[in-house]
Amino acid sequence: MSEVHSLDTHDDLDTHDDAAWWRQAAVYQIYPRSFADATGDGIGDVAGILSRVDYLAELGIDAVWLSPFYPSALADGGYDVDDYRDVDPRLGTLDDFDAMVDALHERGIKVIIDIVPNHTSNRHEWFQEALAAGRGSAARDRYIFREGTGPDGSQPPTDWVSVFGGPAWERVDDGQWYFHNFATEQPDLNWDNPEVREDFLTTLRFWSDRGVDGFRIDVAHMLTKDLSEPLPSSAELALLPQDGTHPLIDRDEVHEIYAEWRTVFDSYDPPRTAVAEAWVSTPERRAKYASAEGLGQAFNFDLLVADFDAAEFRRIIADNLAQATLSGSSTTWVLSNHDVTRHATRYGLPALDGRAVKQGVEWVRAGGPAADLDREQGRRRAEAATMLLLGLPGSTYLYQGEELGLHEVAEITPEQRQDPAFFRGAEFDGFGRDGCRVPLPWSADGSSFGFGADGAHLPQPAWFADYAVDVEAADPASTLSLYRKALRLRRSLQTDERLEWRETDRDDVLRFARPNGWQVVTNFGTEPFDLGSDADAVVLTTQPLRDGVLPGEATAWLRA
Ligand code: BGC
Repeated sequence: MSEVHSLDTHDDLDTHDDAAWWRQAAVYQIYPRSFADATGDGIGDVAGILSRVDYLAELGIDAVWLSPFYPSALADGGYDVDDYRDVDPRLGTLDDFDAMVDALHERGIKVIIDIVPNHTSNRHEWFQEALAAGRGSAARDRYIFREGTGPDGSQPPTDWVSVFGGPAWERVDDGQWYFHNFATEQPDLNWDNPEVREDFLTTLRFWSDRGVDGFRIDVAHMLTKDLSEPLPSSAELALLPQDGTHPLIDRDEVHEIYAEWRTVFDSYDPPRTAVAEAWVSTPERRAKYASAEGLGQAFNFDLLVADFDAAEFRRIIADNLAQATLSGSSTTWVLSNHDVTRHATRYGLPALDGRAVKQGVEWVRAGGPAADLDREQGRRRAEAATMLLLGLPGSTYLYQGEELGLHEVAEITPEQRQDPAFFRGAEFDGFGRDGCRVPLPWSADGSSFGFGADGAHLPQPAWFADYAVDVEAADPASTLSLYRKALRLRRSLQTDERLEWRETDRDDVLRFARPNGWQVVTNFGTEPFDLGSDADAVVLTTQPLRDGVLPGEATAWLRA
């Protein structure tokens, strides 16, 4: 029996029209400091992005999402923002930014930027004012300051642990403590403060006025808090349900903020879009962030923690398409981003305790033993999984370098590491996220593999030469060539938001059809899968067909 997933309200939607462009977009994430360095200081910059606009256009993506490019001390890779309405001088100027947006728009590429509303940096003028103004001041009320505990207040208000590890409170000179969910340099804002709310509306307008098409909202589920006394201990906190009433995570009233933001987004033509980074407990709670009255779309991270397994993929696909129907939004597919081990590497490692999840972190922790990583298996599976995703209804977020089949870099010494999660010993990702943030290889030769004229801010290993853009562009069988072909074809594949499963006689083979005649077949197993007479309809495969047979760990796109 086949199952049909469709969106009642959007079956006939023209997903290429301007207001709905985001519903089925292929969005390419740029981590600006590691993309391309035009100024030659080892750090990627806006002019570097501008110099690679042709590459982005040739790739065939619909939009770019830029991770933070704002002034920052880089205590957390730029997610510690000093000024939300400027460009870091090391990355360029606002004029450079405008030129980049114009050039991308000229090629039909939309621009999404990252907004970091949960915390500022400790160098932000508001935090500096808060330190100077002292307890009880209006300046301190923009943040979360509390008295300490113990006879002299020398103990933190609670024993809470930050997401990156270590204490979540820091004491300032006059003895008060401030709350930081992430690094010490990232004080959390107080979203009950009207000035904070108003200022972010100004920021959204500032960038929308400059032509930005959409926003990615960092930790969208953490902004509002209930810190009324008595505060629970971390053990108590861990037991509290995340049902809208948890003191720190996914509180119901956070949606009042996004309803306000929506009025700003909708005051533009076409309306500005947004996608929430929201790690919440259920699909229903995620759907709230994706509602048309709120941010409109939310990341689905299920595949970041899934094995390369047909049953697991099918469940996740079905659940998320159902969830999209619930919110009226479209779903999002993600296999890699700047926070996780690259998927080519995850898929090339032996399972740990029977599960593939998290083995990437353990592998890096062990120094990245070459013997454990099967690079070819990783690449085969990564290509198969990505081509499956690109054939699904919804938008797909691609992370820079994955179009090269790039692997995680484990060869980074503690002295070279930058990630606060590494230094603070985060439980979720103890070895940090630097390995997926190493500057891209553009050429097999030359300084920093063509990234820039004077080195790279994270070390690039010698094997990067094999994955360089110039090498792959010249090879029709490369991952880059595959992405280019798939992204071009995808435009005619994504004409509606429906999918119909087609049963196969194999548990390890998934097959689905789109109403416009396209079909996607993914073989998760190692045994070849016979496509029979349908082999004639194949237009793209990740591995060459052999006499009409799809090899193991491969995806085929068919068109009737
Ligand atoms: C971003 C991370 C960042 C954190 C704090 C996240 O979810 O993706 O890179 O460290 O928010 O801003």
